[in-house]
Amino acid sequence: MRERGRVGILISGRGSNMVSLVEAMRAGRIAADPVVVLSNLPAAEGLRRAAEFGIPTEVVDHKEVKPRRTHDAAVVAVLKRYEVDLVCLAGYMRLLSPVMVDTFRARMLNIHPSLLPAFPGLDAQRQALEYGVKVAGCTVHFVDEKCDRGPILLQAAVPVLGDDTEASLSRRILEQEHVLYPQAVALFFEGLRTTAV
Ligand code: GRF
Repeated sequence: MRERGRVGILISGRGSNMVSLVEAMRAGRIAADPVVVLSNLPAAEGLRRAAEFGIPTEVVDHKEVKPRRTHDAAVVAVLKRYEVDLVCLAGYMRLLSPVMVDTFRARMLNIHPSLLPAFPGLDAQRQALEYGVKVAGCTVHFVDEKCDRGPILLQAAVPVLGDDTEASLSRRILEQEHVLYPQAVALFFEGLRTTAV
């Protein structure tokens, strides 16, 4: 185990969770460094934000690199080139093929805006509101073959208020995501440190 971990962050959109991870690493709250931010979409807003932090960015455009397993193999190749110890999915809107899951088993985390196993998939906050739950939240879990499934590392609960809209609930859950994901990644590296011989 090296002195500091190397983290690759995968995004498809605005990248606010990526920013919270980078800030926590830069502030010394996680014993790791962000070594690459990769997106499947060249226009992902988060790529610009990563570049502002001075982090190398990479794009593997899923519209250009097909089929899925070929795309995932290309992503794996990039992550291996950067010698990442941990992959953080942060709003990475892709189903993963076995090449990704097997390569990074127990070394890939995802954040999802619900208390899994409730409400996997898209629009989790809307699903929670429509179901009428009184407590929503977010989950950081290890990634396995199924979408939004795998061993849970941390969860945070967020009460649903009587006048919540999808937007207001999503905003409060996102605030908790920005706290939870850095905590989970810090735990991951602390765990490696204490179990490494
Ligand atoms: C977050 O709600 C995350 O839980 C989900 O996708 C959203 C990504 O937001 N997987 P951002 O790109 O991190 O701002």
